[in-house]
Amino acid sequence: MISMALLELVDLHVEVGGREILRGINLAVNHGEIHVLFGPNGSGKSTLINAIAGNPMVRVTRGKIIFKGKDVTGLPTYERVKMGLGVAFQHPPKIRGVRLGELLQKMASKLAKERDVAKVASAVNMQGYLDREVNVGFSGGEMKRSELLQLLVQSPDFVLLDEPDSGVDIENLAVVANAINQLCEANVKPSMRVKSALLVTHMGHMLKYISADRAHVLFNGKIACSGRPDEILKQIMEHGFERCAECLQKREEA
Ligand SMILES: Nc1ncnc2c1ncn2[C@@H]1O[C@H](COP(=O)(O)OP(=O)(O)OP(=O)(O)O)[C@@H](O)[C@H]1O
Ligand SMILES: [Mg+2]
Repeated sequence: MISMALLELVDLHVEVGGREILRGINLAVNHGEIHVLFGPNGSGKSTLINAIAGNPMVRVTRGKIIFKGKDVTGLPTYERVKMGLGVAFQHPPKIRGVRLGELLQKMASKLAKERDVAKVASAVNMQGYLDREVNVGFSGGEMKRSELLQLLVQSPDFVLLDEPDSGVDIENLAVVANAINQLCEANVKPSMRVKSALLVTHMGHMLKYISADRAHVLFNGKIACSGRPDEILKQIMEHGFERCAECLQKREEA
């Protein structure tokens, strides 16, 4: 059967460093949807992003990752990127010897090449950084904007965003959110949208700018709860993650 979802995770189990970190994740993100992933430190959010991106540091031991109807579980990262996957890391790597501008020219899709890379850079306040080595000496917030700039140029169909707002000041938060909205075609009629995102965040600030469709809480390697982003956030703010753990326990006992 061909999946209707753009991204689908089926009973995904993942190990890192010989430890099972994700223990049976089921998740489907449809075309045009933005899903938010909440969860306490160490619950496995970045591990999930790395697994979807195909990072060889994480090992899928059971289940599968389906992207655009194709099982990509065993595919290397570059094949997934060629298929239209993009990722902004929580801790982006520094690339010595490569200037940001050069990298952007290399990764520009046909569409982006016709535009001026510098113009895209100015949309995320990064026009002055194109001559610098990628992420070398960048501040925390600059690194986050550099990641988004790379995604804007790449223009993927599905973006994985691991805490794009962490360490970003209040004014740049709007800049980051605008970039995410642009990536997800927020200005396109919802029924016509095809691009999607999985957004990891700790704070609700982003949700003021981004219209997310669904949120999930990752707790101890499992999805404890899913629902409307505003309701999930309210629950976390009022009761902490413990309430999510109780939900999960009740479901497992049922
Ligand atoms: N190489 C490794 N060896 C052993 N454990 C690891 C390794 N990499 C990650 N882990 C563990 O996996 C767990 C999940 O880590 P992960 O980075 O996915 O958490 P997270 O939900 O993204 O947390 P945060 O909110 O702090 O970013 C953590 O307990 C972490 O220490
Ligand atoms: Mg993380």
